[in-house]
Amino acid sequence: MTNKIKIFDTTLRDGEQAPGFSMDGGQKLRMARALSELGVDIIEAGFAVASPGDFEAVQTIAREITGTTICSLARCNPGDIRAAGDAIAPAKKSRLHVFIATSPLHREYKLKMSKDQVIEKAVAGITLALEYTDNVEFSCEDAIRTERDYLKTVVEAAIAAGATTINIPDTVGYTTPEEITDLFRFLTTEVDGAAGAVFSAHCHDDLGLAVANSLAAVRGGARQIECALNGIGERAGNCALEEVAMALRTRNDFYGLDTGINTQKISMASKMLASITGNPLARNKAIVGANAFAHESGIHQHGMLANRETYEIMKPEDIGLEPDNLVLGKHSGRAALKHRAEKLGFTLSDNQLQSVFVDFKTLADKKKEVFDADVEALILGEAIGGAGPWEIDSLYVSAGSQGNENPEATVCLNHEDGRTIGTSLKAGGPVNAVLLAMNKLTGHNLHLDSFSARSVTEGEDAMAEADIRVSANGESYNGRGTSTDTILATARAYLDVINRIERRAKRVGKGDSQHPIAAQH
Ligand code: KIV
Ligand code: ZN
Repeated sequence: MTNKIKIFDTTLRDGEQAPGFSMDGGQKLRMARALSELGVDIIEAGFAVASPGDFEAVQTIAREITGTTICSLARCNPGDIRAAGDAIAPAKKSRLHVFIATSPLHREYKLKMSKDQVIEKAVAGITLALEYTDNVEFSCEDAIRTERDYLKTVVEAAIAAGATTINIPDTVGYTTPEEITDLFRFLTTEVDGAAGAVFSAHCHDDLGLAVANSLAAVRGGARQIECALNGIGERAGNCALEEVAMALRTRNDFYGLDTGINTQKISMASKMLASITGNPLARNKAIVGANAFAHESGIHQHGMLANRETYEIMKPEDIGLEPDNLVLGKHSGRAALKHRAEKLGFTLSDNQLQSVFVDFKTLADKKKEVFDADVEALILGEAIGGAGPWEIDSLYVSAGSQGNENPEATVCLNHEDGRTIGTSLKAGGPVNAVLLAMNKLTGHNLHLDSFSARSVTEGEDAMAEADIRVSANGESYNGRGTSTDTILATARAYLDVINRIERRAKRVGKGDSQHPIAAQH
């Protein structure tokens, strides 16, 4: 058996379909580029039949990303499979992923199908998928709660029909490490034709066991792990890519298995996803949280100074964090900025470099020293921003405690159609005044659920990052903005949400209803 584990990334499918993580086509393409640089083997780019927007995103990724296998998900029915097949058609390397539920609960209550009917549908789906690509993956949804002997029969039929990857999902995050090792051992040794297929684990994190279960599946013979950056995905999420990749690397002595992941790109890709979706990471998140390599207590610091290995099992450099945190200043040129960006894992096009450089010069004028976190914030700001239709032209706020005066915001916005509009408004607080002014100008009536702003570096002139959560028409959205000015960062985060809503409305206007079959999953 090979000692290479394939990494099947589902950030853009299972991850993206989770509430609060939706991305538009441009954002998905940026993430796909980062995933390809990260070295994942397969990118599941979306569920092509879900909407015209999803179809277009999969197709664009299939056209643009040439070094990685691009995959689309489909249920075992002709409409889904044709949409997925057409969407992946431009890819140099493609895969079609078909699935049907096999557990008694799903058969009886969801599908209302007999055991034989499920097998028939699976075989027909695989047969049709093979008309589009010879790389077909088959998933038995809710495999973990499926009767073992029946699961074996389904998998044998799928392999006989031509599927070359067999995915055994723990759809509801129910299994345990011991149980899943045993199941994979059973399937990889007892199934007829098992030697001709790669067995894959797809674990959800409902009991916080997704990474442990994926590693345990590998012990039982799985040679593909399905995972998502930052562990995003349905409900509690999927197996976290960065955790499983670093576990296999750090404990190579135990597993003796390799992945093709370029771990030095992990920090970059993780931060880009957090920025694009507006979902900050918990400080204590394994591998990529702000505290993952921080050593605060005296005892730990003492040990670290004597020998880093006393408290560090991985080096920050392993995931692309720079230990020297070289400082740039207003005299640093384009080449120095490009070099620093590359060290941090970001490959910038000439246009991106130019635009980040302009922001960098403005920032360097305000700050004496520009740190890595500042540079990252600028690059990520570039990655999320620029997607319009609105941008802030100017913003001025007066606040304070004199008399009974309420804080007042004067906001001016540009629209991509050429309009510039402004207004002044008073409210109980300065942030409130800014957000109400933006509602008035754009005609939205968003409700601010929560916001937080924090500095990304130290000192009085630090860059601030603001994260907000707002709701509108029963849906909730996340936004993020950066600036040296906290109120401006918050305003940018708010406008980020308004822009997302307007871009989405434009897509829906073109017939893109968001994930009509997400509940299928
Ligand atoms: O969790 C699951 O079962 C899935 C399948 C569609 C692979 O995401
Ligand atoms: Zn899933």
